[in-house]
Amino acid sequence: MGRGLPELSELATSDPEWRTRLRATFAKELYGPIPAPPDRVEHKIEATTDGHHKITLSIHCGDRRFDVSAALWMSPKTTAPVPVIVALDFLGPFGILPPGGFPADPAARVYSAPEWQAEGRLVPGLAGQSRPRWPLGLIAEHGFAVMVSCYGSWVPDDAETWRDHGVSPLLNHPNTGAISLWAWALMRMVDVAVDTPVIDRNKVILAGHSRLGKAALWATAHDNRVAGLWANNSGCAGTALSRHLVGETLAQLTQRFPHWLRHGAVTNPDAMTVDQHQLLALCAPARVYLSEAEEDTWADPEGSWAALALAAKAYGLTPPSVIPTAWNSGAFGFHLRPGGHDVLMQDWRATLKFFAKNL
Ligand code: GCU
Repeated sequence: MGRGLPELSELATSDPEWRTRLRATFAKELYGPIPAPPDRVEHKIEATTDGHHKITLSIHCGDRRFDVSAALWMSPKTTAPVPVIVALDFLGPFGILPPGGFPADPAARVYSAPEWQAEGRLVPGLAGQSRPRWPLGLIAEHGFAVMVSCYGSWVPDDAETWRDHGVSPLLNHPNTGAISLWAWALMRMVDVAVDTPVIDRNKVILAGHSRLGKAALWATAHDNRVAGLWANNSGCAGTALSRHLVGETLAQLTQRFPHWLRHGAVTNPDAMTVDQHQLLALCAPARVYLSEAEEDTWADPEGSWAALALAAKAYGLTPPSVIPTAWNSGAFGFHLRPGGHDVLMQDWRATLKFFAKNL
C-alpha cells in the first residue's frame, strides 16, 4: 500500500457536508463533475414480440435534444412492481439480442476487440455478442427486471470523437470526463426506472463491468435514488484503491484512455487527497456488492477488497483482514472467483442472491 491513505471515520459518513465536499474533491482530482440533470427526459416504452420492451429516451436541454434507446426485460408474469438492475453495456441491447433484434446505433463508438474488425462500430457481426453476459432467464427467475443501454451511444468511447455525439454536445459541459458522462447517462436511465409503474422505485440497482463499473460507482455516489450498486472487476478509478500499487495505475489509464477522467486529473496517488474506499463509503446506504476475479490482476482484486473493507469498517462492521472468497454483511457484499476479467453466470448468481436478500 502506498503511504498516506486518507482517513475515513465512522462519524464522517453520516455528515452531509463531508459527503458534498468529498464528491467535489473526487470530481476535481479524478473524474470531473457530473453535469446537472437535463431540463426534461421523455420516454416511450414499447413491448416487442420477442420478450423485451424497447425504450426510447428524448433528453432535452434548452433547445437541444438527444434521442437514445435502451431495452427492458422482465418476467412476463410481472404484475407487482419489481426491483430493477440498470446498466450500460459495451454493445447494449444490440449486442444482447440476436441479429435483427435491436437496431444498431450508427453513431455509437464502442470498445471492440481487434479480431472483431469493427473499428468501434456496431457492425452486424457484433449482434448477440454480449448475450453470454446477460442471463435474462436467471435474472427474471430472481424477480428482477433489467434495463440496458449501449454506453457508446451516450458517449463515444474514443479519445478523438467522444465529444462529437450524444451527451457531450447536448450538455456542452467543459472539463469533465467520459466516466462522469456515462454516470450521467445511468442517472437518466434511473429517471426512466423511477417513472415506470412496473418497477419498484425503491429498488433500483446500478450495475457495470470494468470501465462501466467505474461509471456505476461514481453515479451511485451521487444519486440517492439508487438502492444498490454492483461493480464487477472495476479496477483502477473504480473500486480498487489507487494507493494499492498492483495492476493498472492512474497514469497508465489516462495515457491509454485520455478521455475517461477529467483533463489534468491527478495521477500520482501520493498527490491525491482521496482514495476509492471513500467513494464506496459515499455509496452507502445503498447496498454495495463487488465481484472480483482471481486472475484479473490488472483490475487488482486485493485493492478492491481493501477499499471495501475500509468502507465497511467506517459503518461499524468487521470484515475479515485477508481477502475472502465471499463475504456478506447485508450492507456490503463481495466475492472473489477463479478466472479472469469477465462477467460470468457465477457472478450473476451470487449478486442476485445478495440483492434478493438484502435490498
Ligand atoms: C482496460 C482498462 C481498464 C478497464 C478495462 C475494461 O483494461 O485498462 O481500466 O476497466 O479496459 O473496461 O474492460
